[in-house]
Amino acid sequence: MKAKITLAAEMKIGSIDRRMFGSFIEHLGRAVYGGIYEPGHPLADEEGFRKDVIELINELDVPIVRYPGGNFVSGYNWEDGVGPVDQRPPRLELAWGVTEPNKFGTNEFMRWCQKAKTSPMMAVNLGTRGPDEARALVEYCNHKNNSKYSDMRIAHGYKDPWNVKLWCLGNEMDGPWQMCAKTATEYGRTANEAAKLMKWVDGSIETVLCGSSSRYMNTFGDWEATALDIAYDNIDYISLHQYYDNHSRDTKTFLAKNLDLDDFIYSVICVCDFVKAKKRSKKQINLSFDEWNVWYHSNGAPFERWSTAPDQLEDIYNFEDALVVACMLITLLRHADRVKIACLAQLVNVIAPIFTKTGGGAFRQTTFYPFREMSKYARGDALRPIITSPKYDCKDYTDVPYLEAIATYDEENDEVAIFAVNRSTDEKMELDISLLGFEGYRAVEFESMDGYDVYKENTFGDEGVTMHQNPLPKVDGSSAVAELQPLSFNVLRFKKA
Ligand code: AHR
Repeated sequence: MKAKITLAAEMKIGSIDRRMFGSFIEHLGRAVYGGIYEPGHPLADEEGFRKDVIELINELDVPIVRYPGGNFVSGYNWEDGVGPVDQRPPRLELAWGVTEPNKFGTNEFMRWCQKAKTSPMMAVNLGTRGPDEARALVEYCNHKNNSKYSDMRIAHGYKDPWNVKLWCLGNEMDGPWQMCAKTATEYGRTANEAAKLMKWVDGSIETVLCGSSSRYMNTFGDWEATALDIAYDNIDYISLHQYYDNHSRDTKTFLAKNLDLDDFIYSVICVCDFVKAKKRSKKQINLSFDEWNVWYHSNGAPFERWSTAPDQLEDIYNFEDALVVACMLITLLRHADRVKIACLAQLVNVIAPIFTKTGGGAFRQTTFYPFREMSKYARGDALRPIITSPKYDCKDYTDVPYLEAIATYDEENDEVAIFAVNRSTDEKMELDISLLGFEGYRAVEFESMDGYDVYKENTFGDEGVTMHQNPLPKVDGSSAVAELQPLSFNVLRFKKA
């Protein structure tokens, strides 16, 4: 089949905020213990951080990591996780039915962020706790000295403030599974007061209001409008969460799920702008898509209740999952003007691109690769390409273009990148590329992930599903042609000669 993509430097969507390539570490399963932190592991450093895991995270180039939850945060007492480690209490952790040992807490996370070359995105507990504890945590993290909580941090051995810029106001507060879930009005008021106090402690921080837990909640829409209406002046972003699965083993439908994501993002933008209009405000609320991924392989796996760091949500991803992750990232980039933050949920072991064995090695899951390639090369501005592609119908969607693609233009480095998925399960695609205004550019790389069974997975010592290089397409004037394999994720990069 034939498809066409036309790009022009003038067709900008918006500049890509690096925080679009964020991720997430929750106190859940083996994300922390046995994941990023494992004292005694042969590859752990003197602080217990696994260096092999840090290396893989560096490969992904993750600018922010959300922490400590997730559902976990709604019952978390941050004070349990600071101070002398041997005096920290183990706690019953009600979100996931385990025991939290509190060996790793706020300061360990901040140190780990420094070593992993990333920045913290902290969440506060607006479930069992509220504005008072939230402002105390901001004071503990960000105030220099001469106050109860900043002096507490100094007494704990950390003289300099951590200067955490980004703060989530709770997590999924409309979910009945959330500790102390709230109505939109209850939440809006609590979040507003918390954000107000947190910003009074440190006026330089940014806050993220919880949107509905997913667009399939009955609360979706009204929740956003109500909470935004109350908290508008004290918040900067609203959160979105979405996971997709392929329980029905229907690849064509699974690969089209990002059409739903696109619609979801558009709906939330509309609600934000509705509230803005209603308030006659000049302030624009942007989107923090702080949980997104494929998640389903591990649902319901048994674990021992009240154990510490059991295997939980350990999805092992396959090739088609990687294609869906690529499509989701393409959609996020398509909204680069409004989606300023996004977090792949999560980073290590728990529905994650990096998988470890406690006491053993680590490997890159299939989903690692599209994230890495786009984090590395989607720089500068996202461009709105004109796409002509044959389409198909599937169970849940009609008119699904076989070609899913986005382009980026890094003006500073004279580089254009195209990220493209061929959704066809059986047909190659001859892709006509028109680079309007990019005369003199030549192809410098054509990488792809293709040729695998949709259910093929990676494992320890066998990262069979990966990217490979292809012959470079020749650019003639402003035109090039590339052949995209059936079921493929492709990265085409062009540079000024
Ligand atoms: O990422 C796993 C869980 O999914 C998070 O704890 C929660 O916020 C969401 O429901």
